[in-house]
Amino acid sequence: MAPDSKPKDSVALFLGKILFSLLETMVFSLIPKPRKNVAGEIVLVTGAGSGLGRLLALQFAQLGSVLVLWDINKEGNEQTCRMAREAGAMKAYAYSCDCSRREDVYRVADQVKKEVGDVSILINNAGIVTGRKFLECPDELMEKSLDVNFKAHLWTYKAFLPAMIANDHGHLVCISSSAGLFGICGLADYCASKFAATGFAESVFAETIAQNQKGIKTTIVYPFFTNTGMFDGCSTASPNLLPILEPEYVVRKIVDAVLQNQLYLCIPKTLYFLLFLKSFLPLRTLLILARYLDIFHVMDGVMMKKNLKT
Ligand SMILES: NC(=O)c1ccc[n+]([C@@H]2O[C@H](COP(=O)([O-])OP(=O)(O)OC[C@H]3O[C@@H](n4cnc5c(N)ncnc54)[C@H](O)[C@@H]3O)[C@@H](O)[C@H]2O)c1
Repeated sequence: MAPDSKPKDSVALFLGKILFSLLETMVFSLIPKPRKNVAGEIVLVTGAGSGLGRLLALQFAQLGSVLVLWDINKEGNEQTCRMAREAGAMKAYAYSCDCSRREDVYRVADQVKKEVGDVSILINNAGIVTGRKFLECPDELMEKSLDVNFKAHLWTYKAFLPAMIANDHGHLVCISSSAGLFGICGLADYCASKFAATGFAESVFAETIAQNQKGIKTTIVYPFFTNTGMFDGCSTASPNLLPILEPEYVVRKIVDAVLQNQLYLCIPKTLYFLLFLKSFLPLRTLLILARYLDIFHVMDGVMMKKNLKT
């Protein structure tokens, strides 16, 4: 046995733990889990200058949290900051930060620690999409996708997780995507970045469990296309099964999941079923089904986001 490894549970304890976790899941699928109080918590939202990030900030403001808002878009971020104060945030601070640059993340994180304090809820939300077919996508845009949508999460965790561990208190929120569960035509670099972000968040969650850091929670969110402008031009041919979502609805679900310390959140619930199908259907069959339903169809060349330059 390695010197730092713990002794194995006895069979009885192991079975007891399994039974307890299954029972807990069953009970909380019947009755709603109690919601935690986030008043006074320091909540950092990256990409707070628009879309889901802005709405997340406003929801936490209404719950009385202290808001730390990061975005590369100074104007949008400052507007969110004003809105958060009006919505009831205990305090709100806007910082310009290019999350794709590690040095920028570390520099602004140090500033936040000095000026505001230890972040206790970290929401990695900033994101970009290139929306090009793989071979048509310039290398630098693909690198940027990975830098913003995935690598920024490494740097923000490095900056803020140590204090969460020291305080045995914190919540790590990863805004992934349905594109972090399924490969989607026309979104190769975006999918890669979201799969990576998901794998990273899951792995660190596993580390917190292994190290018995019970006070640190994780929530990983997989929304389908949402009407924020990021995927303008995309359509769904199955509006009942997989509707284009309204951002207010998505954000209500995310905040609810955080307050209930829920690990995974797929929006809408159809994604859980598709994931179940993916676990045993051959990929070709799944793709035939997806093509028939015209889901996960991304129109060519309609998405070119404002933050990306060729
Ligand atoms: N809109 C959707 O259909 C959808 C679906 C699933 C997941 N998501 C994810 O939700 C998150 C929010 O997306 P949204 O729909 O609100 O889009 P959005 O474009 O409205 O918001 C993204 C925000 O991130 C900021 N940002 C971009 N690059 C940055 C950088 N380098 N540093 C700091 N900030 C940066 C932008 O300025 C913007 O304010 C993203 O991670 C996105 O991938 C969106």
